[in-house]
Amino acid sequence: MNTHKAKITSLIAVSAATLVLTLSATGAPVTPTETTASRDARMTWWREARFGMFVHWGLYSGLAGTWNDKAVAKKGGMEWIQQRVKADTDTYAERAIPRFKPVPGFAKAWAALAKEAGCRYLVFTSKHHDGFALHDSKVSDFDAGSVLHRDLVKEIVDAARAEGLKVGFYHSVIDWHHDQYEYALSKQLPHPLKGKPYPNGTRDHKKYVDYLHAEVAELTSNYGPVDILWWDYSSQDFQGDVAWRAMELMAAVRADQPAIIMNNRLFRCPEAGWKSMGTDGFTGALDPKYGDFITPEQHIPATGMPGIDWETCMTMNTTWGYSEHDHAWKPAKKMIRNLIDIASKGGNYLLNIGPKGDGTIPPQSVEALKAIGVWMKVNHESIYATTASPFSKLVWGRATTKGKTLYLHVFDWPANGTLSIPMKAEVVQAVLLSDPSNALPVKADGAQIKITLPATAPDPVATVIRLELRSPPVITVL
Ligand code: GLC
Repeated sequence: MNTHKAKITSLIAVSAATLVLTLSATGAPVTPTETTASRDARMTWWREARFGMFVHWGLYSGLAGTWNDKAVAKKGGMEWIQQRVKADTDTYAERAIPRFKPVPGFAKAWAALAKEAGCRYLVFTSKHHDGFALHDSKVSDFDAGSVLHRDLVKEIVDAARAEGLKVGFYHSVIDWHHDQYEYALSKQLPHPLKGKPYPNGTRDHKKYVDYLHAEVAELTSNYGPVDILWWDYSSQDFQGDVAWRAMELMAAVRADQPAIIMNNRLFRCPEAGWKSMGTDGFTGALDPKYGDFITPEQHIPATGMPGIDWETCMTMNTTWGYSEHDHAWKPAKKMIRNLIDIASKGGNYLLNIGPKGDGTIPPQSVEALKAIGVWMKVNHESIYATTASPFSKLVWGRATTKGKTLYLHVFDWPANGTLSIPMKAEVVQAVLLSDPSNALPVKADGAQIKITLPATAPDPVATVIRLELRSPPVITVL
């Protein structure tokens, strides 16, 4: 090839690439850039909320981790039971539908418990990977409307709103039911029939994606304001525009719900905050056009993530969807301390419940949430609307910040009755949140502030001290 020809060829290649970038894979309009001020305004309630309830509930809940009268596993996500037993959708539906019988008023009980625990928002599975939609859908007959003649999404949204909670939909883009979902296109995403030929001959993934968009449009147009869309999930080999026409999907959602907050799981690439397929593989940066926040799963990032909005989602035992075989319940103390730890690192805590097939909540979860609520009743001001701790480590616990006030969460009560805080500061006053009318003695001692405490911890889980300062502290040990 002569140089002239080579130049023309590369020019054509460059402009073709540019065209692809501008139009995105599907010709979808590129999301207009939002100003930082408008994004901050949109994110404010979420950043202040700090604590939400996650609910995994669907057909799998009735199966409860059991197939052919045997436990499928004692640990791990039983919302994946269809995939674990490699059942096709008809077999799965035949077994699961008779076991999915929501009692009247189940949603009111969820919302009341979320409120009592101190959660500010509720995110529930409008559809999980099994493809069963909880709303009354015109584009599917594998939905609560067709099967139960109920709109469970409406029941849940109404109940949450009545308790003053913000509401979000967890929506799976993976779909093990739809007959056009081309599961062979991804090696990394799960499917019960993986490795097997399509039972219905060829599939056209585009038709599935059209369906997905139509189903999401129902959810974003028929239930009033939707505060969160919690997408789940993509892989490095199948994501974004190619897999879901993601930019177009997000733009359509924003057109219906301008204030909505979305996570980054329509993608699995570095620009969207992902380093790997691991649920803790984060790059530490997120371009907001791919989503508003990142979602560490089942763990708390060691040092938080300054500049990024993040939310740790966690189970109370080891499964998201209900299993009668999973008894690995975490104690309430652990969950309260997780909430504090997360707030001290500037993140949100999305704590999961897996109601049973009748919609009732396992008693262990009810008990734990009530215990969290008791703690929150006294100490909520040390969680809501706080920002991260100025200390990278405190030997006795954690701290959160609100303006010039520090909240000190004491996990390990000092044996000598004196709490040492590694900072220099002018203190206005220190009080226990459990006894706010009695000022605690405070003195400056070199590079430390020392607070004299009662002999025993008023709360063995975490006692909170509100320390009001005249100006920001100078931290002396980092
Ligand atoms: C994973 C699982 C899913 C669960 C989700 C919660 O992506 O596939 O079952 O819903 O994590 O974060």
